Amino acid sequence: MAILVTGGAGYIGSHTCVELLNNGYELIIIDNFSNSNPESLRRIKEITNKDFYFYEIDLLDRIALEEVFATNNIEAVIHFAGLKAVGESVSIPLHYYHNNITGTINLCDVMKKYGVKNLVFSSSATVYGMPDSSPISEDFPLSATNPYGRTKLMIEDILQDLFVSDNNWSIVLLRYFNPIGAHESGMIGENPNGIPNNLMPYISQVAVGKLDELKVFGSDYPTVDGTGVRDYIHVLDLASGHLKALEKVIFSKGVEAYNLGTGTGYSVLEIVAAFERESGIKISYRMVDRRPGDVAICYSDPSKAKIKLGWTAQRGIKEMCRDAWNWQKKNPNGYSNKTEVDLSN
Ligand code: NAD
Ligand code: UFG
Repeated sequence: MAILVTGGAGYIGSHTCVELLNNGYELIIIDNFSNSNPESLRRIKEITNKDFYFYEIDLLDRIALEEVFATNNIEAVIHFAGLKAVGESVSIPLHYYHNNITGTINLCDVMKKYGVKNLVFSSSATVYGMPDSSPISEDFPLSATNPYGRTKLMIEDILQDLFVSDNNWSIVLLRYFNPIGAHESGMIGENPNGIPNNLMPYISQVAVGKLDELKVFGSDYPTVDGTGVRDYIHVLDLASGHLKALEKVIFSKGVEAYNLGTGTGYSVLEIVAAFERESGIKISYRMVDRRPGDVAICYSDPSKAKIKLGWTAQRGIKEMCRDAWNWQKKNPNGYSNKTEVDLSN
């Protein structure tokens, strides 16, 4: 019996695939490389010294998807594949709705046809919209502030409806907070296209000299130093959360949402300072206006995942910054440069 991972060539998917292979799971990966590079798959093999099946297909291609289920014995699906850029989702909402929602409906429909009813879905803390307070627990009100967030909310609802229609489904909705860091080998990591939107890849690219300075969005928030506070989580902790979720869907029925975060918030300037300590590089930054749509403070209450999945994040901000920097300095151009460079400073 194999585990099917959609979006396995991407940032979180590739780290989860390493964990799955290291834990003896048989693996099938689907990706259309719309936001990833085949090199990540090669490196998963290199890190683990293990092999897997790969299909370069789009979830929107239902016939190709069916072929995967017809020719493999699939026990459960971990569904990462989706588009995730908030700003882009505002510009091209139909593309986001089609890719994320139609893609998920195709997947679930084919799963249903082949009797595969165990699913772990990549949701996001974005489903809490503009939360009134933190820590945020799973029973907080849900809302969306942009089309990307709305795709996550809609998919959560669709999956709830699916379970109501057939109680044999077993579905875990994982609401990630802010994934950062990389595999400790520095061989796989986050590989954003163009100028990064997110804090850690932006800082890393300033450190490696690709960007001049970080713009800190807002210095007048009601936080420790006026900058925004988030719950950053090491991508390897996130990966291990998926293994726990997988056990849950395989061994029980139902649909449940879980926060995956550390429960600790750090401000932008605290992250900058931690990164400087780990890299030994000074990060130039400048305070600018708040970014529209940002909340001041957002961090999780991760106790449900601890109690019900037996999962807690193990790595702290030091490891997150160390591993993000290790990846960036070894791969200044992400996966597009195949040879690692020596940046021994
Ligand atoms: P990513 O872009 O690195 O990975 C997503 C992968 O899915 C990519 O390899 C992409 O090529 C693939 N893909 C997209 N649409 C596809 C389609 N129609 N068919 C086949 N493959 C397709 O993103 P990530 O950071 O690894 O995120 C994984 C999931 O987690 C996404 O669903 C994302 O929305 C969610 N998430 C991410 C974050 C984050 O900050 N990274 C936070 C919360 C939730
Ligand atoms: N920030 C800066 N400068 C930058 C980038 C970010 O100051 O160049 C600040 C932001 O204002 C925020 C913090 O750094 O205070 C983190 O910002 P990110 O963009 O890294 O992360 P967000 O919390 O805004 O958003 C992320 C994902 C979303 C997801 C959300 C909740 O990008 O997709 O977490 O899961 F919806």
